[in-house]
Amino acid sequence: SIPIFTTVASYREWRREAHDAKQKVGFVATMGALHDGHLALVKRSLAENDLTVLSIFVNPAQFAPHEDLATYPSTLPRDLELLSAMSLPVNVQGSNGPLVRKPSAVFLPTVLEMYPSGISQTISEQKGTFVDVKGYEHQMEGKSRPTFFRGVATVVTKLFNAIEPTQTYFGQKDIQQALLLRRMTRDMLLSHPLPDKLHIVPTVRDLTSSLALSSRNAYLTPHEREVAAPVLHSALQVSKTAWQNGASKQECIRQACTLITDTAEKANASGGDDKIDIRLDYIELNDPETFDVLPEEASRAQWESEGSEGKGRPVILSGAMWVGRTRLIDNIILGDT
Ligand code: PAJ
Repeated sequence: SIPIFTTVASYREWRREAHDAKQKVGFVATMGALHDGHLALVKRSLAENDLTVLSIFVNPAQFAPHEDLATYPSTLPRDLELLSAMSLPVNVQGSNGPLVRKPSAVFLPTVLEMYPSGISQTISEQKGTFVDVKGYEHQMEGKSRPTFFRGVATVVTKLFNAIEPTQTYFGQKDIQQALLLRRMTRDMLLSHPLPDKLHIVPTVRDLTSSLALSSRNAYLTPHEREVAAPVLHSALQVSKTAWQNGASKQECIRQACTLITDTAEKANASGGDDKIDIRLDYIELNDPETFDVLPEEASRAQWESEGSEGKGRPVILSGAMWVGRTRLIDNIILGDT
């Protein structure tokens, strides 16, 4: 079975040996309740590194007091089984026949291990050192969750310092998180990982509905999951088509909102006990460099003409939506990245 480290000190002993052997350490940070999205990151890491470490830590600092910290899903025995079952054959120069790589270690710290001076969920009462990526945290997810990225940037800095990854893997599903962390590694001159060793892995979706996999999908009732949740991705697809056909940003967003409103009405028209509560938080188009929202009148032709060297300037099309008590997010990147 996979070695589990619950303290930074015990992990570091293991890490030192990897360092002495000049082995590349790939790292995947998670909050557990693993699904195929997480496992896609692990697979990439297995393919590109000698050793792969995964952390499971539900980070209190990134949850606002009214959010779901207390009920966040936890499936540790199953998570460990899934990881133990993973293996990837790789061809390594100099060895005869393919080598089979498996996840090497799990880092499973306590809250006290990660926050030795303690932690308060009330931001004004927090004491100690925090990492804020200024100027990028009030758009998109940051607008709806104002203290979220401070919690994420802080815990990921701690994890990078503890794990010392050569390379690390984040999901496109949380695109703003991934880009903001890449920015942080650059700004803070981190070497583990170097900024260009923070890789973004495409979103893994449910095959039939295209719903982005998420640990929070466990909150959905079967009816919500089937009827309501997939509409977020459909709405983004509608916007994408409108954008590609030359519509203004305003019009792209309007079409997406209409689809969501129609779906909500239809879902509830039948009456009965199966009422579904769909509430759109936002659909937006943002610049991936600055996270600034595009002007209402912006359109593809005008936006892409501002790109450099004839390359289409990319745009993040993203959205967040409530289905009952579950908050879902998703995004599509338009243009080259
Ligand atoms: P968590 O939601 O557990 O996600 C861990 C990693 O898996 C993140 O990089 C996330 O983007 C990626 N991921 C989640 N769903 C995915 C999907 N459907 N396809 C591809 N990748 C997916 O994100 C966090 O935890 C936390 O904020 C964390 C970075 C661990 C800091 O606490």
